[in-house]
Amino acid sequence: MMTVKETIAIAADHAGFRLKSLLKDEIEAAGYHVLDLGTDSPESVDYPDYGLAVAAAIESGRASRGVVVCGTGMGIAIAANRSSRVRAAVCHDVTTARLARQHNDANVIALGARIVGEEVARECVRTFLQTNFAGGRHERRVAKLAEASQSRKTADVSV
Ligand code: RB5
Repeated sequence: MMTVKETIAIAADHAGFRLKSLLKDEIEAAGYHVLDLGTDSPESVDYPDYGLAVAAAIESGRASRGVVVCGTGMGIAIAANRSSRVRAAVCHDVTTARLARQHNDANVIALGARIVGEEVARECVRTFLQTNFAGGRHERRVAKLAEASQSRKTADVSV
């Protein structure tokens, strides 16, 4: 029986492009198809373009989840999170990667190539890919995020 591989979109700016290529191999070795959206050199680029590219791939259904890398992980995560379909989490270790999936149902992991070592980054991605959303009480909270991005509601001060 042929199984369809899940597609993981990956992108990085110049600060993350080297780590991106290592992570790409890691993701493929774990049995996923990789959609590489660049960048492919150390030439300076703008991280929003790459975070937005991963968000667009998720919005269009070309990828189900994503991995983004910049110097800190933060700028590219902020960019990806402009999409209401994206929950991008900056992760620094296996625990944050696991909880981002279990509690937040994060569909994009963001890593800082200047912050985490290569082996930690690999472990984060492996954990992110293999961990399921825990559901339960977290369903309601994640649903509120979707609701907020639909209605542009920013806060409910009564809770
Ligand atoms: C690029 O120098 C750096 O600002 C970028 O990679 C990232 O860390 C931004 O959040």
